Amino acid sequence: MAATSLLSAASKRLQGKVALITGGASGIGACTARVFAHHGAKVVIADIQDELGQSVSESIGPNCTYVHCDVTDESQVKNAVDKAAIIDGKLDIMFNNAGNSDEKKPRIIDNDKADFESILRLNVTGVFLGIKHASQVMIPRRSGCILSTASVASNVGGGATHAYACSKHAVVGLTKNAAVELGQFGIRVNCLSPFGVATPLASRVSGIEEEQEIENSVASLANLKHVILKAEDIANGALFLASDEGRYVSGHNILIDGGFSIANPSSHIFQYPEEPSRTHY
Ligand SMILES: NC(=O)c1ccc[n+]([C@@H]2O[C@H](COP(=O)([O-])OP(=O)(O)OC[C@H]3O[C@@H](n4cnc5c(N)ncnc54)[C@H](O)[C@@H]3O)[C@@H](O)[C@H]2O)c1
Repeated sequence: MAATSLLSAASKRLQGKVALITGGASGIGACTARVFAHHGAKVVIADIQDELGQSVSESIGPNCTYVHCDVTDESQVKNAVDKAAIIDGKLDIMFNNAGNSDEKKPRIIDNDKADFESILRLNVTGVFLGIKHASQVMIPRRSGCILSTASVASNVGGGATHAYACSKHAVVGLTKNAAVELGQFGIRVNCLSPFGVATPLASRVSGIEEEQEIENSVASLANLKHVILKAEDIANGALFLASDEGRYVSGHNILIDGGFSIANPSSHIFQYPEEPSRTHY
C-alpha cells in the first residue's frame, strides 16, 4: 500500500499544478504539454496554429485546453495567462517556448533589418511578455516556476543566424535578471538550451523534411554519440525544473546538448584511430 502510493506520487510529479505553454501546438512545446499532463498538470497550450493546437489539446485529454495567443502581442499574452490562471485560481508553471528562426544567410550584409527585428520580437519580446504577465499572477502567491526555451545557440557562436543567436543569448540574460528580481517572491526562473531536435522548426532551418535525416545530420555534429536527442529529453528537463525536485534551481541555462557546447572538436586530443571493440576495451 505504502509502496503503491509512493509510486503514484512519483509518477505524477506535477499533480495539482497549472501550466501554460507557448508554442505548445508543435515540436518541443507539444511534447512538453503531453509530459506535463501525464504528470498530472492542467495544461493550457498557447499558439497561433489554432487547428493544430486544438487537435493536440484534444489528443491530450480533458486536462488540456487551447488558447490562441500570438506572444508578440501583449494583450494576447495577458489573456492567455488569465485563461490559465482562472482554471484553479493560480498559475504554477509558465513555459515561454514559442520561437522561430529567420532564413540562413551566410553573409551579414545580406540580412534584412526587418527579418532581424521580427525574430527578436518573437524570441525575446515574446519571452519578456510571458515573464511579465506570469509574474503578475505568481507574485501574490509567492511561488511559481518560469521556464523559457533558449538554444545551444545561446552558448556557441556560428551555429545559427545572427538574429537567432542574439535572441537566444538575450533569453539567458532575461532569465538571469528575472531570477534575481523574482527570487524575493519565491519564483524560480530558468531556461533550457537544446541542441538540434527534429521538429518543424529544425526542418525549416535545415531544409530537410525527413525526421530521420534531420536526426542523422544532428548526430553527425554531436559530441555525445549513440544517443539521439528527442523532444522528450527537453520536456523531461522542463519537468524536472517545474516539479518540486527542481525547487531550489533558479537563474540557470540548462544545456541539453550532450556536451556539444563544451567540446572543441578541432583541438581535442581524444580522437581514437578507430572505434574500440565493445567487448575488449
Ligand atoms: N528544434 C530545435 O532543434 C531547437 C533547438 C534549440 C532551441 N529550439 C527552440 O525550441 C522552441 C520550440 O521550437 P520547436 O523546435 O519545437 O519548433 P516548432 O516550430 O515545432 O514549434 C514552435 C511553435 O511556436 C509557435 N509560434 C511561432 N510563432 C508564434 C507566436 N508569435 N506566438 C505563439 N506561438 C508561436 C509555432 O506555431 C509552433 O507551434 C523555440 O523557441 C526554438 O527556438 C529548438
